[in-house]
Amino acid sequence: MAEAPRCRRVGILGYGQLGQFLAGRLLAGVPPWGWLWPSSGRGTGATGGAAPSLRLPDLRLLPQTEVDLVVEVAHPCVAREHGEDILAHADFMLGSPTALADPETERRLRGAAARGGHTLYVPRGALWGCEDIARMDEAGTLAALKVTMTKAPQSFRLEGWLQERLAAAVAAGGRAVLYEGPLRPLCPLAPNNVNTMAAAAVAAPRLGFDGVRACLVADPNVPDWHIVEVEVTSAGDEGRALRVTSTRRNPAAPGAVTGNATRDAFWSSLLACRGHGGCVQLC
Ligand SMILES: NC(=O)c1ccc[n+]([C@@H]2O[C@H](COP(=O)([O-])OP(=O)(O)OC[C@H]3O[C@@H](n4cnc5c(N)ncnc54)[C@H](O)[C@@H]3O)[C@@H](O)[C@H]2O)c1
Repeated sequence: MAEAPRCRRVGILGYGQLGQFLAGRLLAGVPPWGWLWPSSGRGTGATGGAAPSLRLPDLRLLPQTEVDLVVEVAHPCVAREHGEDILAHADFMLGSPTALADPETERRLRGAAARGGHTLYVPRGALWGCEDIARMDEAGTLAALKVTMTKAPQSFRLEGWLQERLAAAVAAGGRAVLYEGPLRPLCPLAPNNVNTMAAAAVAAPRLGFDGVRACLVADPNVPDWHIVEVEVTSAGDEGRALRVTSTRRNPAAPGAVTGNATRDAFWSSLLACRGHGGCVQLC
């Protein structure tokens, strides 16, 4: 039987691939308790097959639910619009940490966590080695961090000029680097696709969204894989620095924004959300 978070009432915002997976795990556990906020008609799914008794018609009803933990698995705009209200009442697991690339949103959410005494959790998602990265950052030994994400063109949900770049890449065929540079400007252009990079920026606050290097690659030759490469470089003498490179190849359904194993990573993250007080916590 699936292990349910002990003594925690969990609400899920977003009922797509991740939301349905987490809801299924919660409902299989003891004691199951959860609600799902409908997606106000955006995208497909809304609360789909969820029982009507589990649906919350309006997020303003949140205080009445006595929920302990709200999990966002929808879109970064949810945190922008509702994050402060959520943190006034409950811990908040932010499945789309690209929201934090907006300095004003980050400031407001950190402030709300401190005021309300609730924790803003950032799940590691597909980021491998995040504890090692966080330790190096804390010790001041992390000099550089680069995250390269490679997916098939149909897995991208892009905005602005990056959409045109992708269309040109698809027309040309073959592998194409869509973006290479600092992470911060990439986040609003690929809000659903670079959350793993955003988790890296949270793990390494000294580098942050401006210091972490991002590389986004479209490759039609990997239609059902998400590949995340993390390159860590320590401070040190020229040519004598510690370098660690990891490559995570995760099977994914064609067109999905989330790879299969990342669903399990999210469940493990949810289980780790046991209340750490008014701070930001990787989980
Ligand atoms: N942190 C990470 O490493 C990581 C990894 C995978 C996915 N994610 C993020 O988690 C989120 C969900 O992933 P998924 O695979 O379930 O995606 P999905 O596309 O399968 O599902 C998203 C759901 O949210 C709903 N939705 C979209 N915009 C909404 C809005 N403004 N308000 C309310 N509902 C809205 C959609 O209708 C859909 O039901 C995405 O933002 C994705 O980028 C993060």
